[in-house]
Amino acid sequence: MKALVCKTWGLPETLAIEQMADPVAGPRQAVIRVHAAGVNFPDVLVIQNKYQFTPTLPFVPGSECAGVVESIGEDVTQLKPGDRVIAVVESGAFAEKLRADVGALTPLPAGIDFVTGSAFLLAYGTAYHALHARAALCEGETLLVLGASGGVGLAAIEIGKALGARVIAAASSEKKRAICREHGADEAIDYTAADLKKMLAALTAGRGVDVVFDPVGGPFTEVALRSCAWRARHLIIGFANGEIPRVPANLTLLKGCALVGVFWGRYVRSEPTAWARDLQTLFLWLGQGRLRPRVQMRYPLERGAQALAALLARQVSGKLVITPLSQ
Ligand SMILES: NC(=O)c1ccc[n+]([C@@H]2O[C@H](COP(=O)([O-])OP(=O)(O)OC[C@H]3O[C@@H](n4cnc5c(N)ncnc54)[C@H](OP(=O)(O)O)[C@@H]3O)[C@@H](O)[C@H]2O)c1
Repeated sequence: MKALVCKTWGLPETLAIEQMADPVAGPRQAVIRVHAAGVNFPDVLVIQNKYQFTPTLPFVPGSECAGVVESIGEDVTQLKPGDRVIAVVESGAFAEKLRADVGALTPLPAGIDFVTGSAFLLAYGTAYHALHARAALCEGETLLVLGASGGVGLAAIEIGKALGARVIAAASSEKKRAICREHGADEAIDYTAADLKKMLAALTAGRGVDVVFDPVGGPFTEVALRSCAWRARHLIIGFANGEIPRVPANLTLLKGCALVGVFWGRYVRSEPTAWARDLQTLFLWLGQGRLRPRVQMRYPLERGAQALAALLARQVSGKLVITPLSQ
């Protein structure tokens, strides 16, 4: 099989297409023929050895894909060859075939294509867990989404609207803000403007926002925290900005508000029953058209490194998808 391989830590241009032996399923594993693999921000961190875990070199990056079960190992009863699935894994998805533990696989509902399936679970799973379980976002509350045109950002806008909130989307260009409005944002602002705090005060009649969805970090975290309402919840999702912020703890006291950490991958492993309930809601809303994953562009495997480079260069609204079976 062909795969996109990381042989040395570095930027996407250091990735290479290689021919590798086909994977074989071990006990409680399956081999998936990968039709589509979604690109996520952690993929560009992992190849630079800047993520939470360090794979052994060489390795195939890629943490999310959709495809068809080609073979199964011993002790697999819940799946059979030919089944359509989504896989969420630590690595290995940017290849024609992926070997995965059966626990990492979710059946792909009928009527949902592979490209959509590969661009859905990680972003929408994170946004739903954050807004529903961690923030308890209520109807009528105001939600501020930073980095709102990114993968998890657009998902947070749509889920915020589905939960009945008023959504303020913050993005760095007018083109990105227009996409946020298309996906349901009530307001769209430039969060790189110097007067962000004033803008948020004006949009909330001085009250502040009830929930912040923050996948960006850096200096924006403190400005957003200072723009929170009494009893707000500020969700720490990630640090796309590259800087892990330090914020004055007294701000949480003054506003009676909470800084809330969100780690979707750990949640899925630690609370499988709750995650199964989330999946039902997410697939229901996807089927009803309330959630509309935006795939900006598809890349053949040979150009997969360019997809990772585009994400790193902040050129993406929604998701990019690598399609290993296309020529
Ligand atoms: N906690 C969890 O469980 C969890 C799960 C999934 C993802 N995450 C994290 O969430 C973050 C976003 O992931 P994603 O897949 O949505 O990424 P993405 O699609 O690349 O979106 C990130 C957004 O951040 C903004 N940004 C600001 N400064 C940036 C910079 N220096 N470089 C790149 N982007 C920058 C960009 O919007 P503007 O150009 O408009 O500023 C961009 O749209 C990542 O840190 C990721 O690790 C966390």
